[in-house]
Amino acid sequence: MNNCQLKDRILRYDRMVPRYTSYPTAPHFRPGFDHKAYADWLTAIPQESRLSLYLHVPFCPKMCWYCGCHTKITRRYAPVEDYAHLLIREIEILGGVLGSSRKATNIHFGGGSPGMLRARDFSLIMETLAKTFTITSDAEIALEIDPREITENRIKAYADHGLNRASIGVQDFNDETLKAVNREQPFELTQKTVEMLRNQDIEGINFDLLYGLPYQTVKTMEETIEKSVSLSPSRFALFGYAHVPWMKKHMRLIPDQSLPQKEIRYDLFEKGSNLLQEAGYLPVGIDHFARPDDELIKAYKNKTLRRNFQGYTTDNADVMLGLGASSIGKLTGGYVQNSPDMPVYTQAILDGHLPTVKSCAITAEDRLRADVIEQIMCFFEVNLPEICKKHGVPTETFTADLDKLTPWIEDGLVTLSDEQTITIAENARPTLTRLVSAAFDAYLPAQDPATPRHARAI
Ligand SMILES: C[S@@+](CC[C@H](N)C(=O)[O-])C[C@H]1O[C@@H](n2cnc3c(N)ncnc32)[C@H](O)[C@@H]1O
Ligand code: SF4
Repeated sequence: MNNCQLKDRILRYDRMVPRYTSYPTAPHFRPGFDHKAYADWLTAIPQESRLSLYLHVPFCPKMCWYCGCHTKITRRYAPVEDYAHLLIREIEILGGVLGSSRKATNIHFGGGSPGMLRARDFSLIMETLAKTFTITSDAEIALEIDPREITENRIKAYADHGLNRASIGVQDFNDETLKAVNREQPFELTQKTVEMLRNQDIEGINFDLLYGLPYQTVKTMEETIEKSVSLSPSRFALFGYAHVPWMKKHMRLIPDQSLPQKEIRYDLFEKGSNLLQEAGYLPVGIDHFARPDDELIKAYKNKTLRRNFQGYTTDNADVMLGLGASSIGKLTGGYVQNSPDMPVYTQAILDGHLPTVKSCAITAEDRLRADVIEQIMCFFEVNLPEICKKHGVPTETFTADLDKLTPWIEDGLVTLSDEQTITIAENARPTLTRLVSAAFDAYLPAQDPATPRHARAI
């Protein structure tokens, strides 16, 4: 099959499916889970478990119209400062439930824009974390940075507290595109942010880029990649813009006619992916690229790569605990989510409670399917009998799901070996992987097609 035929086939299969950063996915989390139920899950975590901590900072100075994250706009610092103090209190409450000497191997500040945290507040948060947990000497401490509002002073303070990885929101370098999404960010700002990080010896730098934004063309993608590569970050994420105006009203400010059609989206990703690979980056999963010496490549090669709410990761902690409004955690029993509603979140903390409001208990079948889906999302391949054996279920468990693969197998895009190993063809991986994963999602068919929840796969 030549490239045009491949594109034609793949586009025909496009439909709305989750990004599988969890299974079951977030729309299946249910309300009615309070701090008492959460405390039971927390105290059941074995003492020796490695913990990954995710701290959400839901503030930005200006709304990007493509934004799908949980954030709130504030030009003033006072709400961010107040929130930092709530986060500190939440860490202390969590520590009270968990008990001392718990080992933290990963700390991730996400948002919103956690780079809004001033040096003093970041220091207070890190000091509280250090008092509450034993942060391992090799812990990864990462933060998402928006170059438009970061300062040298703040980066220095973050580095003094152990920051060793930064993910920079770049998105695109084309002026027309950036203007259309309300995000003006000249190349020089990103360049300066990279320099400031390197001045503090922070070499673990990721760039987030988006394809599918207004007015993007193959030519503008070429220019964006060329400029990005000139700054040589260690990793790239090239995310497909998820346009979900029924969930995020500000996305309606992006005119429909400015958005590239799915044929162009396909070309944009292909161009971006080819140029990154020509520049020496290796693909990881459906949308990440990394230098050959990057830990992500090592994790892919030695099969320890994981997928969590932050996307592809080397984080292999046993448990993830979410702190801050809306953040999600994953424990042995299942997923938990804090209230995304700031007054509810605030009141819980002031009352001395953890602000957990939703959960999704994971059944044995969920665990089995989550394993299959994570294997597919990370490695494009899964041996079903091996997974069935690991979970103690009969090999025939997936017979009905396998039927859903038939059209792709007939098209040569997926192979099913005699040993029942499913493999996605190399040239179909970026586009077909979410769709193949969806074939093993037991919750998906139950959804009402009239109420879309996800963005398109391409
Ligand atoms: C929390 S933001 C990054 C940090 C910072 N706020 C910034 O924008 O620079 C995380 C990333 O999510 C991605 N993102 C945001 N909205 C998206 C959407 N609707 N579809 C796909 N990716 C999106 C962007 O690439 C963004 O850099
Ligand atoms: S993309 Fe980043 S800066 Fe823009 S609104 Fe979303 S979280 Fe804020």
